[in-house]
Amino acid sequence: MSSNVNIDWGKLGFSYIKTDLRYISVYKDGKWDEGKLVEDNMLYISEASTSLHYGQECFEGLKAYRTKEGKIQLFRPDENAKRMQQSCRRVLMPEIPVEKFIDACIQVAKANEAYVPPHGTGATLYLRPFMIGVGDNVGVKPASEYIFRVFCTPVGPYFKGGMAPVNFTISEYDRAAPYGTGAAKVGGNYAGSLYPHELAAGKGYADCVYLDPATHTKIEEVGAANFFGITKDNKFVTPKSPSILPSITKYSLMHIAKAYLGLEVEERDIYVDKLDELKEAGACGTAAVITPIGGIEYKGNLHVFHSETEVGPVTKKLYDTLYGIQFGDVKAPE
Ligand code: COI
Repeated sequence: MSSNVNIDWGKLGFSYIKTDLRYISVYKDGKWDEGKLVEDNMLYISEASTSLHYGQECFEGLKAYRTKEGKIQLFRPDENAKRMQQSCRRVLMPEIPVEKFIDACIQVAKANEAYVPPHGTGATLYLRPFMIGVGDNVGVKPASEYIFRVFCTPVGPYFKGGMAPVNFTISEYDRAAPYGTGAAKVGGNYAGSLYPHELAAGKGYADCVYLDPATHTKIEEVGAANFFGITKDNKFVTPKSPSILPSITKYSLMHIAKAYLGLEVEERDIYVDKLDELKEAGACGTAAVITPIGGIEYKGNLHVFHSETEVGPVTKKLYDTLYGIQFGDVKAPE
């Protein structure tokens, strides 16, 4: 355990703090090596690596939580492992076995235990597993060698203000193509979102909302998070589309909405010109957890949902339940 962790847990944002150890495993000659923890936070790879030029890479994000008993727990790491396998298949990388993925995450969380924030601070240890194509390979084809790596960093809220409503604007740009890589957690999707984000931030919005790339009529994602709404007749609704990243937090919220709050749940189209059907809206994801959406700007008009300053009651219940389960204070629904 590191002896000199001196962090003001309550003041953490979402940024990188170097921790003690990270995990690395190398794929060579058709197989993964055993993997190990290392101190060095730098990577040394060929300048001709496919990850650098052709974006042959993917990543995951999950968190380690400190329970009130002082234990550390991960939230559904098997789901992240399976999603990483799907991403690997989409960009022709070798899959990492689910058990190896989970073992690596546990090793990293344990080795950096001193950086897992205390219970009650709301802060967590964010784990970032990723895979990159490496080696000498200048042609556009899959690499023959890969690195699977997991590092971690303690984090607070993704959006400043945490569980407080923020406003978003509709992007004119797409984050993914109709049959592109939107459902895979690959870096290119995020590179393409940097400019639209910058435009939104320049206009004073927290981030932008992406519409479906084929017709630009339906909501798809909110920045790097998924979208959900609560309809006026009390249904939990969230978009369904092959170009949306399947958020583990979103599927957990769908389950909580049904099992805890007794809401009907629908994965279906949500039209940008029918936002009136929603009384509350939010962005959800591992990093953001739930960020309530105050309003969405579209064609010069700000459509306000519940309120620009107050969190809606259903959103609050969803958040409290999810947060409670993740930190071990609430029993997970059957
Ligand atoms: C997550 O919620 O883990 C995300 O995907 C956002 C991340 C890219 C910061």
